[in-house]
Amino acid sequence: MGTIKCIGVLTSGGDAPGMNAAIRAVTRAAIYHGLQVKGIYRGYHGLVTDEITDFKSENVSNIIQLGGTILKTARCKEFTTPEGRKIAYENMQKEGIDALVIIGGDGSLTGARIFAQEFDVPCIGLPGTIDNDLYGTDTTIGYDTALNTILEAVDKIRDTATSHERLFFIEVMGRDAGFLAINGAIASGAEAAIIPEVSTEVDQLEEFIKNGFRKSKNSSIVLVAESELTGGAMHYAERVKKEYPQYEVRVTILGHVQRGGSPTAHDRILASRLGTAAIDALLEDQRNVMIGIENDEIVYVPFSKATKNDKRLKPELIKVLHELSI
Ligand code: F6P
Repeated sequence: MGTIKCIGVLTSGGDAPGMNAAIRAVTRAAIYHGLQVKGIYRGYHGLVTDEITDFKSENVSNIIQLGGTILKTARCKEFTTPEGRKIAYENMQKEGIDALVIIGGDGSLTGARIFAQEFDVPCIGLPGTIDNDLYGTDTTIGYDTALNTILEAVDKIRDTATSHERLFFIEVMGRDAGFLAINGAIASGAEAAIIPEVSTEVDQLEEFIKNGFRKSKNSSIVLVAESELTGGAMHYAERVKKEYPQYEVRVTILGHVQRGGSPTAHDRILASRLGTAAIDALLEDQRNVMIGIENDEIVYVPFSKATKNDKRLKPELIKVLHELSI
């Protein structure tokens, strides 16, 4: 190491509860180890437009409990171009930033991988996304909080679904991954989940209807993962209206409510562990890896693996939901 004196930290892509706890951990661990810290605003956009500020320990006081990100975030078009990345690199040099810690999801870590290759900049990624879709880590910062938000909403919807004896399709986020939907369904006691991972293999609606509503119940809740592959909750509601008009159907799209709120204890601890590990990794001369957690141990996952989009959803989860929704 020795060469790294100053690090820049940024949050990028969709915000996730626990990002602030991660910013705090990265900042404090860096200062603890004698490094200088600069906060970069609005993700890669701030690197391109030079929105960069010195960060002291006080800058990250009282933020561990806050949702969102004090650094703001963005999905930055300029950074997807070689010209944009060149300006970003020049700004890094101007600011004296020797290494970057990027907190974000798949797109953000892909950006980091390309940038690191082009300019030989040490980059460390932290998995910050409610989608939990990064390979090499059991869970991502924000996922647990989003799951709990889903549960709170589904519990409430169940009251009205039961009272009116209706079939509800509740759409949850996840981009093209079904982790929020399947685990949200298991944890809320929903009757089914429609997820992209099996959308091309079977007609999940037909399966669900064929199995019947729970014998003892005449209301039902189905979680649908947003995705082009599933078609989303509206798609299934329309189908039910046409193909099974005997059911009274309603739709709730939970949307961005899933991205907000104070992070759970799980996400705060995860963010704190990953954030300090990011600085350890830089001090060990690691670069271009995402810090993950597997079996409760910190792991380093090369960006190319983490972002390959092949995090497997355990088939066991589908079995659990299926068996418990008889
Ligand atoms: O990646 C996080 C996520 O919340 C996805 O689940 C969702 O598809 C997407 O971001 C929504 O992005 P935006 O806030 O830009 O509409």
